[in-house]
Amino acid sequence: MPLEIKQLHQHFVGEVSGVDLTKPLTAAEAAAIEAGMDRYAVLIFHGQDITDEQQIAFSKNFGDLELPDNKSNIIKDHERRVRREIADVSNLGKDNEPLDRNDRRRFFNFGNQLWHSDSSFRVIPSKYSLLSCRSVVSRGGNTEFADMRAAYDALDDWQKAEVDGLICEHSLMYSRGILGFTELTDEEKANFKPVRQSLVRQHPVTGRKSLYLSAHAGGIVGWPMPEARSLLRDLNDHATHPDFVYVHKWRLHDLVIWDNRQTMHRVRRFPDTTEKRDMRRTTLTGGVQTAQQEDQLRAAE
Ligand code: OGA
Ligand code: MN
Repeated sequence: MPLEIKQLHQHFVGEVSGVDLTKPLTAAEAAAIEAGMDRYAVLIFHGQDITDEQQIAFSKNFGDLELPDNKSNIIKDHERRVRREIADVSNLGKDNEPLDRNDRRRFFNFGNQLWHSDSSFRVIPSKYSLLSCRSVVSRGGNTEFADMRAAYDALDDWQKAEVDGLICEHSLMYSRGILGFTELTDEEKANFKPVRQSLVRQHPVTGRKSLYLSAHAGGIVGWPMPEARSLLRDLNDHATHPDFVYVHKWRLHDLVIWDNRQTMHRVRRFPDTTEKRDMRRTTLTGGVQTAQQEDQLRAAE
C-alpha cells in the first residue's frame, strides 16, 4: 500500500498510512513525509511498534538530533531511564515506577501541560519532535496541538503590524515560574538564562508566517514587563482558540511528529502518580537561530 496522508483538521494535521517505521524509509517515503510536515505541521502514524533504535533511525531521515546539554532539564545523567538521544517524556523514574508526588522532576514535568514549543528556550530551537507512545493511561493524557500559521493568518492587519519584528525572551524559568515552581538551584538558574526568539517566524520551505509563542516566552525586548506579558497572554488566548486546535487521543504505538516552528502543544492531566504513561521523544534541531542574542549584539558593536 503506498504512503497516503489524510487531513484531520480544517487547518492542519495529517494521518499517515502505508508506511512501516520499523524499516528503513525509501527516499520517496522520506520526501513524502517531509512534504507532509511542511503542509500539515503535525503527522500521526498508528500501529508503529518501534524500538528506541528504530525511532532514532527514523528521526534522522529529517535532520540532526537535538541532544541534551544539561541546560534543558533538571534531570541528571545518572537519573536517566532511557538513552541520551531520547527525551523521556514519561511520568516514570529509573525504576519504571511513577515519580512520587513530591519529586521535583514531576514538578518540572507539569510544564508540559502549558502550551509551548519544544526547546524555544535554546538559542537554536528545535525543528521536529517525534513522540512515540509505549503505554497508555485510562483517562486524560491527550496531547493538543495549535496551528500557529492559522493563528497568524487570522490576526487583523494592525495586530500583524504590532507583532512584526518583535523579539521575545524565552526561559525555562518563565514557564516553571507560571506554575510556582521557583525553587531552582543556583546552577539551574544560571543554565536557564533567557534566550531571544523572533515572535513571527517564516517557514524556510513554504514561506508561511507563524506566531512563535511558548510558555517559555516571558518578556519582549524593549517592552515594560506587564505590557509584554499581557500581549503574550492575549496572543496565546487567540492562538489556542478551538478553531486552531487539534486534540490527539493516544493509542498504543502511535507516533506523532510535530513541527515546533509552526505549532504549539500541551499534554492534558492524567492520573500520573498511579498510572504509567511511557512516552519517548526524539527531537531534531532547527539548525538556525531566529534572533541575534544579546551577547552577540554587544560583541558586534
Ligand atoms: C513533549 C511534550 C507531550 C506529551 O514531548 O515535548 O510536551 O503528550 N509532551 O507528553
Ligand atoms: Mn513539549
